[in-house]
Parts: sequence; structure tokens; C-alpha cells
Amino acid sequence: MNAVEKIRIGLAGFGTVGCGLARILDRNRDWITRRTGKDLSIKTILVRDRAKKRAYETEAPVQLTINPDDLINDPEINIIVELMGGLDASRRLIETALESGKHVVTANKHLLAEHGPRLFQLAAKNNVALAYEASVAGGIPIVQALKESLAGNRIRKIEGILNGTANYILSQMSAAGLEFATALDQAKELGYAESDPTLDIAGLDAAHKLVILIRLAFGRDYPLGLLPVRGIADVTPLDIGFAQEFGYRIKLIAQVRALDGRLEAGVFPALINRSCLLAQVEGNYNAVRVEGNAVGPVTFHGQGAGGLPTASAVLADIMSLCREGARPDNTGFGSAELKKADILDPDQTESMHYFRFTVADRAGVMAAISKCMFEHGVSIAQAVQKGDALGDEVPIVFLTHEASASAVEKTVAEIDAMEFIVRPTVHYRIL
Ligand code: NAP
Ligand code: HSE
Repeated sequence: MNAVEKIRIGLAGFGTVGCGLARILDRNRDWITRRTGKDLSIKTILVRDRAKKRAYETEAPVQLTINPDDLINDPEINIIVELMGGLDASRRLIETALESGKHVVTANKHLLAEHGPRLFQLAAKNNVALAYEASVAGGIPIVQALKESLAGNRIRKIEGILNGTANYILSQMSAAGLEFATALDQAKELGYAESDPTLDIAGLDAAHKLVILIRLAFGRDYPLGLLPVRGIADVTPLDIGFAQEFGYRIKLIAQVRALDGRLEAGVFPALINRSCLLAQVEGNYNAVRVEGNAVGPVTFHGQGAGGLPTASAVLADIMSLCREGARPDNTGFGSAELKKADILDPDQTESMHYFRFTVADRAGVMAAISKCMFEHGVSIAQAVQKGDALGDEVPIVFLTHEASASAVEKTVAEIDAMEFIVRPTVHYRIL
């Protein structure tokens, strides 16, 4: 009988996802061997602190190291799995691994969003894989779906919930009435948040993932710095409550639309009608809705954060490498460098909007606001003024018909300068 070929993994990072990977490799060992025909195991793990207590202890002994060379220079290690996060150390490790002819699997969306084009070029030059299924939407297989299963489609639009932490916070604020800070602490405790959670809250983590999806779906590089990004830090229970009264939920949305070869993209909190699938995505779950010109709309839903779901995606990349060997087509568009995206002027697209004005409680205010909106072409669909004012302040909420981003901006600037406005106006898009 032939001996089963051994694949030895050099794992960098043994935190939430690294421990998840070790756990699933142990738990499903026989199944993985049956499906790949290989004997897969972790040989060495790179960490910062060897003495730290770990959430999982591997069944077979594993060498812990603080020296990246122990992974790179080991000829037995075929695949480097980078689960450290951050930019500098992970970039050095991945570059050295690719230059050494080792395949790399990573979940590091921040690094791929910032430095992806250069890393993909390096991988192509060395004819090795740089695989990243786990970098977008945790356990949902969206990278493979865009690269392979939907490859024949011209994609018209992608919209989704791409950050588990933000979705967990908004869900807990809506359903359980939790404070923002308490919900964030829970998300950290559950292993959903980034080591710097401002990336989650400020919408940047979702932006990193959106840039990766844009490359896969459109074959274009959308520079991260040009992407409009707004997070959830100022979403209040008051707006969540008003949205609910009108039949909506507030979600952090990442969206890209193609119009005549140009792309309109962004990350923003938005009101979603509660009958829509995206409105029903709760907790650490993510969802991605892709619209192709042959397949129509396809929606993916699953856990977008957490150790085991993310490790499931990491393992899929490892197993794919074991089965098929090197996959130099890491971007889905061969080895050519992707061209920059042609970006649509936001004024060429329109959306419905939610406005909450906080005004002094006096006659004529509603009329002045309505007049200003009318003058800027922002047409009102619904309005409500709450009688139960806090002191002298009254919230007035308007839902509008479709209006351009610049019309909305001008309206808000003009109204916020009016003497009866007590606080800056809050406004969100409605999808
Ligand atoms: P984590 O729990 O903070 O673990 C990070 C691990 O990397 C730790 O074991 C840490 O070592 C090690 N590490 C960090 N910097 C290092 C360095 N310079 N040298 C050596 N070791 C270093 O992070 P995580 O949540 O597992 O996330 C890992 C990656 O997966 C990140 O890119 C993240 O964005 C991505 N990701 C995470 C999730 C999720 O749900 N958590 C989902 C999708 C993608 P010590 O333990 O010794 O400090
Ligand atoms: N911090 C990320 C999130 C992890 O909450 O979605 C998954 O990428």
C-alpha cells in the first residue's frame, strides 16, 4: 500500500481563527484525508508569546516559535497559513513565503485590501497560490463563488452585510435593547471583533472586504482610499426605534453597482425594509447578494465571524491546494495586473433617504424644512413629528423619494444652518 503523502502546515497566529483551524483539523482528520488523499497537519506555529495559555491544545505535539524563519526555512512545510492579522509582520511573512515558493493561505483582508495587487503579482511571479477565502464574510464561500461558480456572469451589483461585529452590535441594540458599548464588549468576548475594533465600527473592515469582492467580481482594483466609508458609531437607539416604526431595520451595508462600465461603491449604515432578506440577518451572521446577468440574484448567508466558521474557509483553501496543487490564478483574472476601477460620480446615482432633524419646538419649522427639501429636489415620501419632546427639542423624521447624494448634502448643510436646528441632522440611505 502506498504511504499517504504528508502536507505540513506552518501556521502563523494561534488566536481565535488559528485555534479554530487546529480544532477542525483534529476533529475532521479522517474526513480530510479521505477527501484530499493527503495527511494534513500543523507542524509549527508562530506566535508572539510562547507562554500564553491557548484556547485549544492540539492532539499531536506542535512546535511553538516566535521566529518566522522556523516556518519559512523548513523544507517540510509546504503551506504557510497566515492568521496573525495586522499589516507589517504579516506582509513580511507572506512576501518571504511567496518568494520562497511556498503557498500561502490568509484571512487577512486588511493586508489584501491595502497591498493585494503587489502580493498577487508576487504570487504569480513565483507560480504559487495566495488563497483568501476566509478574508471575506467568514465561513461563507463567496471568494470561490465569484472566482469560479459565477465567473461567466457580468456582475451588476453586490450588496451585503460583511461585518459580523457591526451586525452583532446593531442586532443586540435592536432586539435586546443593549447599549452600544455592552454589545461591542460581547462581540470582542465572542472572538468576532478585530484586534483593533475601530476597524469594525468605523466600517473599514467591511470596506477591506468590499475592495476584495470588487476585484473578484469586476476584475478592477478599487483603491481603498477612494471608497466612501461610514461606520455605525453614531447609530442611536432613537434612529433604530424610528426605523422600526416605519418598517425598517438599520444595517451596515457594503455595496457596489456597475453602471455603463463604471462602479459606484461604498460602506454605509442603511435602512432596509424588514421584509428583505438582508434585514433578517442577525448577530454575527453575514449575507452577500450578488446579481449576475445570467444567474440573476443569488444570496449567500452564514456566519461571518468567529473561530470555527472562519477556520472552515481557511481549511477549504488548504484542501483545495492539496487536491489541485498550485493555483496561480489567484485573482480569477490570470496573472495580469488589474486595472484601476472607473469610479462613478455619486451624483449620477440616486437613493431614498431617512432624515432626522432635531429642532426647537415651535411653529413654522416643518414648513421651512419641507421648503428647503423641495428647493433641492428632495421629495418627501413620509414624515412624522414626535410630540413627546425632550425638553424643548423635537425630532422630526422624513423619508424621501430618490435623491442624489449632492442634493442630500446641500439640503442637510442648509437646514443645519437654520436657527431652529438644535443638533446636527442625522441621515441614512434607504435600500
Ligand atoms: P487573534 O485572536 O488576535 O490572534 C492573532 C494571533 O496572531 C495570536 O496568536 C498572536 O500571537 C499572533 N500574532 C499577532 N501578531 C504577531 C506577530 N507579529 N508575530 C507572531 N505572532 C503574531 O486574531 P484572529 O481573530 O484569530 O484573526 C486572525 C486573522 O483572521 C486576522 O487577519 C483577522 O482579520 C482575520 N479574521 C478573523 C475573523 C474572526 O472572526 N476572528 C474572521 C475572519 C478573518 P499571541 O497569541 O502570542 O499574541
Ligand atoms: N471582525 C470581523 C467581523 C471578523 O466582525 O466581521 C470577520 O472578518
